[in-house]
Amino acid sequence: MNYSRFLTATSAARKPSAIRIMTETLSRAPKSVISLATGSPNPNTFPFKTAVITVDNGEPIQFNEEMMKRALQYSQSAGIPELLSWLKQLQVKLHNPPTINYPTSQGKMDLCVTSGSQDGLCKVFEMIINPGDNVLLNEPVYSGTLQALMPLGCNIINVSSDEYGIIPDSLKEVLSKWKPEDSKNPKRNTPKFLYTVPNGNNPTGNSLTTNRKKEIYELARKYDFLIIEDDPYYFLQFNKSWAPTFLSMDVDGRVIRADSFSKVLSSGLRLGFITGPKPLIERVVLHTQVSTMHPSTFTQLLVSQLLHQWGEEGFLAHVERVTDFYRKQKDALVAAADKWLSGLAEWHVPTAGMFLWLKIKGIYDVKQLIEEKAIKKEILMLPGNVFYADTSAPSPYFRVSFSSASPEQMDMAFQRLAQIIKESL
Ligand SMILES: Cc1ncc(COP(=O)(O)O)c(C=O)c1O
Repeated sequence: MNYSRFLTATSAARKPSAIRIMTETLSRAPKSVISLATGSPNPNTFPFKTAVITVDNGEPIQFNEEMMKRALQYSQSAGIPELLSWLKQLQVKLHNPPTINYPTSQGKMDLCVTSGSQDGLCKVFEMIINPGDNVLLNEPVYSGTLQALMPLGCNIINVSSDEYGIIPDSLKEVLSKWKPEDSKNPKRNTPKFLYTVPNGNNPTGNSLTTNRKKEIYELARKYDFLIIEDDPYYFLQFNKSWAPTFLSMDVDGRVIRADSFSKVLSSGLRLGFITGPKPLIERVVLHTQVSTMHPSTFTQLLVSQLLHQWGEEGFLAHVERVTDFYRKQKDALVAAADKWLSGLAEWHVPTAGMFLWLKIKGIYDVKQLIEEKAIKKEILMLPGNVFYADTSAPSPYFRVSFSSASPEQMDMAFQRLAQIIKESL
């Protein structure tokens, strides 16, 4: 892989910050070292002294005074070492990336912690995209991605998808305007990456099948583009034996994978992690050095303590409990849809995540119905148009989340919605 061809001039120009390097050195230094170097504030002046946080199994996570001082201090930009090593092991166990023992220059697997996966994705996009670059994705797409991509001035090429995710033949067709060797000629502007949410896509709830992933990966090899695998709903797959990821197929070191703790541990902690080839992860970390400096030390320590306390098995058992919850929520929402919306709307039952994507029959554009009529009846949902680059285009689709409402509320919401649809036809 020639990673330099994927970097913007800004990203390529990033240099390590001397102060950040000193912070790293200090974190590894023995207690005998006298530091007059960094501008870290003196934690003895901080007003917070200790904390005990109770986990749902009743076990406490203790922050004694020493630990608290560390939790409240600056830390390494890539993430605190004990969390990084735990996460690396997890990635190896779950995905067994072929690149794990590659030399760095050939894309050895590396990982960094970010302030939520969104922060990591945003940095990845800024690392790669120059104005006018072509990027591939499948609309409808997570609006956070659109809002991050569009100001960068890239040319978004939509690849058709269905209930099983991106359609490889459609991708083939899109790519057929180039020759594989065009990737060596910058003037040909071959797509830099394909972005996709492979499990429980937001907003459609669709998941990409393994065979399609394999076909897409082969096309990425042929036309030499990166794959950005944004997978915050990976842990919320409703069927056992989780789908193999792009990372698990990555023999070239061309996959950048975004994981999130938001859906399984908590969203307000703002912790996610980006896994990918070391030459690219290093660029993300250099960006972090000059932006957030590092994700919150306190939340990293909290999560790291919890994960070490649980072990991988405990973490996966927790994930299973969370998934059970969302599976039941999904069943309740689908039951409510079957009961009230049959004949009025169409949908596919999601196999992961927290969203149902519905199409109202016979209404060309549901924006007004969702944004005005439904709100008047006290139901909040998102109209489909917000998940397209062209938000002005009419859409008969809307997105419903089954994360928070109770089964009774879901039933009531769809009963009201059915009434509104009937009145609007
Ligand atoms: C597809 C997708 N990517 C990324 C994110 C951002 O997640 P995080 O909270 O980890 O930043 C979300 C959040 O909803 C999402 O749905």
